[in-house]
Amino acid sequence: MADNRRRRSLFHISLLSASLLCLFLSPIPASAQPRKLRFDANGEFKILQVADMHFANGATTRCLNVLPAQMDHCSDLNTTAFLSRLIAAEKPDLIVFTGDNIYGPHVKDPVKSLNAAFAPAIASKTPWVAVLGNHDQESTLSRQELMKHIVTLPYTLSQVNPPEAAHYIDGFGNYNLQVHGAAAAAADSFLQNKSLLNLYFLDSGDYSKVPSIKGYDWIKTSQQLWFNNTSKNLQREYNAEPNAQEGVAPGLAYFHIPLPEYWTFDSMNDSENATKGDRLEPTSSARTNSGFFRTLVGRGDVKGVFVGHDHNNDFCGELKGVNLCYGGVAGYHAYGFSGWDRRARVVVADLNKNRDGKWGGVKSIRTWKRLDNQDLSRVDAQFLWNNPGN
Ligand SMILES: *[C@@H]1O[C@H](CO)[C@@H](O)[C@H](O)[C@H]1NC(C)=O
Ligand SMILES: *[C@@H]1O[C@H](CO)[C@@H](O)[C@H](O)[C@H]1NC(C)=O
Ligand SMILES: *[C@@H]1O[C@H](CO)[C@@H](O)[C@H](O)[C@H]1NC(C)=O
Ligand SMILES: *[C@@H]1O[C@H](CO)[C@@H](O)[C@H](O)[C@H]1NC(C)=O
Ligand SMILES: *[C@@H]1O[C@H](CO)[C@@H](O)[C@H](O)[C@H]1NC(C)=O
Ligand SMILES: *[C@@H]1O[C@H](CO)[C@@H](O)[C@H](O)[C@H]1NC(C)=O
Repeated sequence: MADNRRRRSLFHISLLSASLLCLFLSPIPASAQPRKLRFDANGEFKILQVADMHFANGATTRCLNVLPAQMDHCSDLNTTAFLSRLIAAEKPDLIVFTGDNIYGPHVKDPVKSLNAAFAPAIASKTPWVAVLGNHDQESTLSRQELMKHIVTLPYTLSQVNPPEAAHYIDGFGNYNLQVHGAAAAAADSFLQNKSLLNLYFLDSGDYSKVPSIKGYDWIKTSQQLWFNNTSKNLQREYNAEPNAQEGVAPGLAYFHIPLPEYWTFDSMNDSENATKGDRLEPTSSARTNSGFFRTLVGRGDVKGVFVGHDHNNDFCGELKGVNLCYGGVAGYHAYGFSGWDRRARVVVADLNKNRDGKWGGVKSIRTWKRLDNQDLSRVDAQFLWNNPGN
């Protein structure tokens, strides 16, 4: 029985690999180019964050920390099935993979593992992006080689690095994406050329390269300079004619390793009230503070930071006007707690309807999570930000 089932899943994964192989042998057809990001006709833009898939070799890679009764029939394919269910239920406008997409030490062929890990996103034709965690490069490809492969995949908007900063920026997988107003076809849209929501993706590295500092890596000054420059340019464009907008368009930042400021919520006695979601393990950030949080607060546009890395944390807490959020763990070949369902985070930005009935800037940013149980339960819905100008 078990053998048959195993063979059947092996057959499915070979079918999947075969069809993906066809995709990768031929140049990406124009139809597989991702579309530009826009708010939809209902003034909504939805992002699905998938953290820590820890994908390895598919059907032969066993699950960690599931109930004893579940062990026998659980593999990487459960991660694939969860991702497919999430996409079908939420129909996101963008999927963001926040690193440890693959678990290098157990991966035989990193290209195959990446392709299989992202396969449900590609199959759904949803625009998607990825950044790297600390485990992705622990097989045979370097961080640069991994990003160079990722950017060739269908429907991705990932970049190796921004062209204007490629000569000085640290890491691989730093870039920004703009989310413009609804398409011109919508009569209530006039901001189709304005970025109303700015997304920043950063490489938070893997491990410290400074001998006197042990532990995880951090976001470098070069990356913060690029962030500041990009954020300023975007604000200038937002405030410029035609259709000049007032203030600052909100931004969201995605990367893998939490900032040291996530510690704030470990030592807060009223953490129950300061945060929504679970904090079941301490924050594993870098042991030095490179100042990215201060940079974010200084610029003022980013309203939410979304990381993975600490699988058993899935909370959001607000500090100085910035929400520090975890995605929670999505991968079955990743440590977790048996009985604490694998999960993923959804974020929705909503536009304000102006007095003249046209869509304006962003009114609010909301979030919730989906659990991989029978009902795909939607939990911990909350507002992260309400535009004080509306
Ligand atoms: C993993 O997937 C198998 C096959 O669909 C299913 O029987 C099993 O219940 C899943 N395990 C978990 C922990 O979701
Ligand atoms: C947006 O840009 C396109 C292409 O440059 C242009 O045709 C269109 O008129 C612009 N729309 C608005 C509302 O500015
Ligand atoms: C800042 O952005 C502008 C516009 O993209 C670019 O020309 C310039 O080189 C950037 N400067 C830095 C330091 O990245
Ligand atoms: C939290 O409570 C403990 C024990 O009541 C106390 O020792 C600690 O200082 C408190 N921490 C903060 C941040 O208030
Ligand atoms: C959280 O807030 C509620 C309502 O204000 C209060 O009753 C409760 O004691 C608070 N919890 C903690 C841990 O401070
Ligand atoms: C980025 O800009 C902010 C606001 O001006 C400033 O506080 C911060 O120090 C800058 N960061 C870097 C690395 O220059």
